[in-house]
Amino acid sequence: MAALHVRPVCSDTEIADWRHAHNVVIPNDPLSLDEVRERLGRNRLDVAYRDEVLVGNSTVRPPAEPGAAAVVIVRVLPEHRGQGIGRQLYDHALGHARELGGDGIETIVWEANTGGLRFAQAAGFVEVSRYLPADEDVAYVTLRLA
Ligand SMILES: CC(C)(COP(=O)(O)OP(=O)(O)OC[C@H]1O[C@@H](n2cnc3c(N)ncnc32)[C@H](O)[C@@H]1OP(=O)(O)O)[C@@H](O)C(=O)NCCC(=O)NCCS
Repeated sequence: MAALHVRPVCSDTEIADWRHAHNVVIPNDPLSLDEVRERLGRNRLDVAYRDEVLVGNSTVRPPAEPGAAAVVIVRVLPEHRGQGIGRQLYDHALGHARELGGDGIETIVWEANTGGLRFAQAAGFVEVSRYLPADEDVAYVTLRLA
């Protein structure tokens, strides 16, 4: 299988690719290009390619305050799942998160992504809380690396 290439979002093409992967995986929270650019100012955003084909993306959010956890989220496009990409992307993102310090590592999974919950649990995360936005009917689950 071709190697996975993970790189930080820099160019307009990478911004558009990161947005595409986000919006396909989290269709209830579509982001505009400007919203992705705003996140780029706060978070580490990576895009992943195999044979120059976009396969997924990741977000590493620094601890919001001293003593808070860094947050790692990986997303793999549905047609590329089940081939070890999520795990590689996660290991890559986890390395960045550990460099940021903070008190532990957390992830957030949209509850409808049941495979994402199993993925996180297989990686050692345990649920710590869930949040249901007022105008939505599917919760976001926060899990912490045990
Ligand atoms: C979760 C996600 C990233 C997994 O991507 P992937 O490329 O299919 O994952 P991998 O092939 O690397 O699988 C790694 C491990 O995760 C677990 N896993 C992944 N998908 C799973 C599923 N649907 N059901 C059960 N376990 C699953 C397995 O334990 C797998 O290990 P295995 O090799 O022993 O089978 C992908 O399904 C996704 O983008 N989901 C939506 C976003 C999300 O919920 N992200 C989780 C936040 S970190």
